[in-house]
Amino acid sequence: MTIDQIKTVVVIGAGAMGQQIAMNTALNGRAKNYKVVICDSFPSAVEKAQKWAAEYLKGRVARCRITQEECDQISENLSFSNDVDASAAKADFIIEAIIENLKIKRELFQRISKLCKPDTIIGTNSSNMVSSKFADVTTNPDRLLNVHYFNPALVMKLVEIVRGPHTSENTIQTAKAFAASTGKSPIIINKEIPGFVANRINAAVTHEACSLLEKGIASVEDIDTACEKGLNYPMGPFKLMDLTGIDVNYYVRRDRYAESGDEYDKPSPLVVEKFKKGECGRKTGKGWYDYTTQSKK
Ligand SMILES: NC(=O)c1ccc[n+]([C@@H]2O[C@H](COP(=O)([O-])OP(=O)(O)OC[C@H]3O[C@@H](n4cnc5c(N)ncnc54)[C@H](O)[C@@H]3O)[C@@H](O)[C@H]2O)c1
Repeated sequence: MTIDQIKTVVVIGAGAMGQQIAMNTALNGRAKNYKVVICDSFPSAVEKAQKWAAEYLKGRVARCRITQEECDQISENLSFSNDVDASAAKADFIIEAIIENLKIKRELFQRISKLCKPDTIIGTNSSNMVSSKFADVTTNPDRLLNVHYFNPALVMKLVEIVRGPHTSENTIQTAKAFAASTGKSPIIINKEIPGFVANRINAAVTHEACSLLEKGIASVEDIDTACEKGLNYPMGPFKLMDLTGIDVNYYVRRDRYAESGDEYDKPSPLVVEKFKKGECGRKTGKGWYDYTTQSKK
């Protein structure tokens, strides 16, 4: 598959990531006039995504970010479906963004790779599962890879293109060109590694921030200030953890430790304490900071 052969892009999974990946493809790839199908096995998820997309485009026009004509073109190119199999069958490029469950993803890859064209590129947006986990059940795994977007996918420019041992060079280059054609800044990761590149670097920063806090070297606020004012981070590591969820940090490190057995990968005792107290960040009203008082944060 070459970039010029990609006409129909099918996003499977109409959740938080899928709806934004689909919209990004239609909106920022509009010069390519991609036909984008967003599908999900749950009708309520499709309905929700359709409603969100209409509202989002209306807002873009109201803010003069796109013209009404562009909005009409994007709306025409964006379609919604409950029929995952029929959608996959017409795809040139599939981006899988369903629930993070190995068994369910494997079942999906096995099914759709038989239904789609033999050279349709199949990318998984999984944050934690490398495409090798699906290669044995995927027909023609040379077109299988990770295409990892960041949340929110309409805003964050990075896309990590991850090569599995089964992935062809042509697949890597076409996926990279595709991401670039939708306004993204793709990078190529040459070997599979849990967490890929950006999240591993972020994990190292978060690990050091927690270690400094554990040792009483500086406070949560001062460590965040050091990163924001000294390193120009848009947000310190504790504020970021509150935003993404302290529970997410806990689960990722717990699973990584279970896999590696390396003490370094263990969740910080302070993270475990917060997790056990149910103080998971913004979503619970309290994490490293208190959001119930509507203070400065
Ligand atoms: N949320 C993030 O910050 C983030 C960032 C990068 C990557 N990811 C990855 O993206 C993927 C999706 O995450 P999300 O946060 O959008 O999840 P989500 O729970 O918001 O959405 C998942 C969607 O998948 C649908 N689904 C479940 N099983 C399905 C099936 N068998 N066939 C079709 N649809 C099915 C659900 O109905 C739901 O709409 C995960 O693999 C996750 O690791 C998430």
